[in-house]
Amino acid sequence: MSKLRIMSVFGTRPEAIKMAPLVKELKSRGEVESLCCVTAQHREMLDSVMDVFGLTADSDLDIMTPRQTLSTITSKCLTGMDDVIERLKPDMILVHGDTSTTFSGALSAFYHQVPVGHVEAGLRTYDKYSPFPEEMNRKLVTQIADLFFCPTANNRENLLKEGVRDGVFVTGNTVIDALKTTVRPDYHFATDILNTLDYSARKVVLVTCHRRENYGEPMANIMSALRDIAAQNEDAELVYPVHLSPIVRETANKYLAGVPRVHLIDPLPADEMHNLMARAYLVMTDSGGLQEEAPALGKPVLVLRRETERPEAVEAGTVAMAGVRYDDILRMGNELLQDDAVYARMAHAVNPYGDGNACRRIADAIEWHFGRRAERPDDYLP
Ligand code: UD1
Ligand code: UDP
Repeated sequence: MSKLRIMSVFGTRPEAIKMAPLVKELKSRGEVESLCCVTAQHREMLDSVMDVFGLTADSDLDIMTPRQTLSTITSKCLTGMDDVIERLKPDMILVHGDTSTTFSGALSAFYHQVPVGHVEAGLRTYDKYSPFPEEMNRKLVTQIADLFFCPTANNRENLLKEGVRDGVFVTGNTVIDALKTTVRPDYHFATDILNTLDYSARKVVLVTCHRRENYGEPMANIMSALRDIAAQNEDAELVYPVHLSPIVRETANKYLAGVPRVHLIDPLPADEMHNLMARAYLVMTDSGGLQEEAPALGKPVLVLRRETERPEAVEAGTVAMAGVRYDDILRMGNELLQDDAVYARMAHAVNPYGDGNACRRIADAIEWHFGRRAERPDDYLP
């Protein structure tokens, strides 16, 4: 019997970090030919992940342009994918999460009548415009996909409510698989500032912020609150690797450049980022991925958004919603930095998002689906 041709399609930094261990797991399987198509919706930030995890693309659509719009990303991905699917003839296409690459990859697979596996399926806020456009992307992919790899049982419940019953697996999130390969107690940073920080004497606050629905006033509120948190906490150091989006960089520079105890740095390679998180005191972010990684490392997280599609760690008490209003962010940031009891209540490791074996379950499920394995994989239960 010929090998199954399974093509992973991704384009942004978080998709690459979360698909890297899966591409590798599939490569290790005798039954599978693991193919990799990158859209390069992100360029530098994608290339950095490919380097860290030692991945090479079988096809690179190289679509990114500065200040790209949602329509150009989608149309360029769709046009580019036509050739790739015809040339590489995959038996299944895997897409991840909820980006424009995810949606276009799934739609393109459908146009070519290639089955789709959706990794990180079933996340929902039920707010069409928040996160924007991700909530709609993932709902549309649900309509197209054949296999659904849900990180948590809660994600499966969301799909069940929408009438999706077949092909649903609870696997854990592949980001925990990735984290297990990068975090090391003796890790030495390549980024100088990260080696000079005294992580035991100073409270290092790791910050990221990039979401489209936060552009404008919410992002201005967030940055102003961060500036004042730095001013009011002399024992804190804010480390903020700034996303390459020009809109984000302009806002971060406007409010935070030159502010004492705020370190604006370039995006970090994933291994540097994960090891910085492991040493940080606290995380403040609007990122999806950081909300999953930090709880696994026992780090409290303040989420700089109005809602989250990741309620599991909020329920576990490690993540709190700070919202996008200046007063709330300042108050909650100060409280965590100044009240040891509040901090201690949040700083405990929980693993609602996985045990590091998500990729094995996903690869097993794919083999089972194609009749190459007798047993359906067991669902992940924390
Ligand atoms: C995208 C995803 C978002 C995800 C985020 C992860 C969509 C609609 N959004 O948002 O879901 O959370 O990635 O970071 O798919 N840029 C560079 N170099 C890079 C990357 C980006 O210069 O390596 C700049 C470019 O000017 C680009 C802009 O950032 O046009 C925005 O990138 P884009 O992928 O459109 O949006 P993100 O905000 O990164
Ligand atoms: N990340 C990174 N370097 C950075 C910032 C983030 O490697 O400078 C990693 C982070 O650890 C996580 C992922 O990128 O694994 C999250 O990506 P991002 O916040 O861009 O997107 P989201 O998760 O919000 O979609």
